[in-house]
Amino acid sequence: MLLVGLFAPFGPERLGMAAVLYVCMTCKAGQPVPEGAAQPGATLFAALNAAAVPAEVEIRPVECLSACDHGCNVALSQPGGWSYVYGRLGPDDVPEILRGAAAYAATTDGIVPWRERPVIFRKQSIARFPPQFAVSEPSK
Ligand code: FES
Repeated sequence: MLLVGLFAPFGPERLGMAAVLYVCMTCKAGQPVPEGAAQPGATLFAALNAAAVPAEVEIRPVECLSACDHGCNVALSQPGGWSYVYGRLGPDDVPEILRGAAAYAATTDGIVPWRERPVIFRKQSIARFPPQFAVSEPSK
């Protein structure tokens, strides 16, 4: 089994690992946040955790994804797959964020077909990063 992992492309199915949805806890969404009030990023994190999170998606808090002007921001990552940062999100986007995260987790390379991506992922992508072991992207 280990040999298969060494020679095959890495991906969540091969490694048995979930996709991780990182949520920036410190995003202020361009708003002044009164002292003692919850940061909008923390509010988004709480809303995501209160929803029905797909079993193959793990939500992890993180401080700053270096996209502060676009907050609230989240990032999706998986072993051997492309990674993405999405911005301008809020609690109303929770169902679509989780739907997109589940679709992402179902891939082995992090590339969800364009038409299957939630609109917020199509229009609010800030950046994507190739996997450490590069895979080729299918032509569109
Ligand atoms: S504070 Fe959220 S990306 Fe920087």
